[in-house]
Amino acid sequence: MKISKLVSRIPGSATLALTAKVNALKAQGKDVVGFTAGEPDFDTPENIKESAIQALQQGKTKYTPVGGTPELKEAISANVNQDYGLNMSPDNVIVSCGAKHSLYNLFLTLFEEGDEVICTGPYWVSYPPMIEMTGATPVIIDTRPGMKLHADMVAKAITKRTKGIIINSPSNPTGMVFEQEELEKIAELCIRHDLVIVSDDIYRKIIFDDRKFFSMATISPEVARRTFIVDGSSKTYAMTGWRIGYCIGDSNVIKAMSRLQSQSTSNPTSFAQYGALTSLTSDQSPVEERKRIFEKRRDLIVNKLKDIPGMDIIPPNGTFYAFPSITGYLDRFQGSTAFCEYLLEKAMVALVPGIEFGADNHVRMSFATSESNIIKGLDRIREALAAL
Ligand SMILES: Cc1ncc(COP(=O)(O)O)c(C=O)c1O
Repeated sequence: MKISKLVSRIPGSATLALTAKVNALKAQGKDVVGFTAGEPDFDTPENIKESAIQALQQGKTKYTPVGGTPELKEAISANVNQDYGLNMSPDNVIVSCGAKHSLYNLFLTLFEEGDEVICTGPYWVSYPPMIEMTGATPVIIDTRPGMKLHADMVAKAITKRTKGIIINSPSNPTGMVFEQEELEKIAELCIRHDLVIVSDDIYRKIIFDDRKFFSMATISPEVARRTFIVDGSSKTYAMTGWRIGYCIGDSNVIKAMSRLQSQSTSNPTSFAQYGALTSLTSDQSPVEERKRIFEKRRDLIVNKLKDIPGMDIIPPNGTFYAFPSITGYLDRFQGSTAFCEYLLEKAMVALVPGIEFGADNHVRMSFATSESNIIKGLDRIREALAAL
């Protein structure tokens, strides 16, 4: 059967496919060390699970309002108001089936053919295809080698067609946090050129070295008005399978997103919303503890990478991803895919090729895995590369 032009153009998510491949190898009994996961390796905290179980037992198994339960929307707006110092109400909130779905709804609501949307490269795999699905054109700012976004890069990328910019800090795949001063200058550009700001803050609670999270939404009311914060339960609370994400911003746009959602998925899963409610309203100490664990692993992976000639790493400021360059090996491999294939075959170590993020001279390594796996995997990589 003929597949539509729209869907024919969409590449499947490479990171999800790779993780499936690693799991299949493990199921065959292969001792593979996987660095591909885009999710915390911790379990969802017990109290969150408990409230979803209770919701099920209480019969909260029916449709909810399309954009989420009033209690969850209230908790999300209260959380944003507290953390960002904003003045949002539940009318500024829509809950969707994961932050990915929030972004998709937002892009479809705001962007269309003829528009250009700026995103920082190396980029999260889903931004360009999602932008393309709206008919708009993604414009990638390549931040290599420094991986930090600067206002002058944005100024050069803006054209008459530019409709918006996506900011993801801390960033997947680089782990970089962009500097406040640059974000302030970028905000000025957004006002001057009337651009929408999509602030994908999904990693905002996983920041290291006592750095503070800074969001463009906090710069001024004028910037906040044009900013859409996207966040969710997945990374902060180890709830990737629950599929709860949300978007906070201008209430008219939120209403339009709700219309779109009403004709596509309807509400996100009823009992998952009760789990998400508990995640936001209960003790946050597991989030802090887990952040410290990620930070320790970050230090370990950075130190182990320093022992491998030809793989250079800028230490990530946040997230659970390291994004070393492999430039030292590109005389022997055609690109990052061939490099990763060699390591999977020779060393039974799975990494994600940087080409998936628009950077063929890099690989992404998720450190959402145990310290012993990090040590074992990096030792294997060093040996396999030394044998070349
Ligand atoms: C930058 C970024 N944004 C959004 C998402 C989507 O998260 P979810 O749909 O699981 O809430 C991810 C997940 O990998 C991500 O890395």
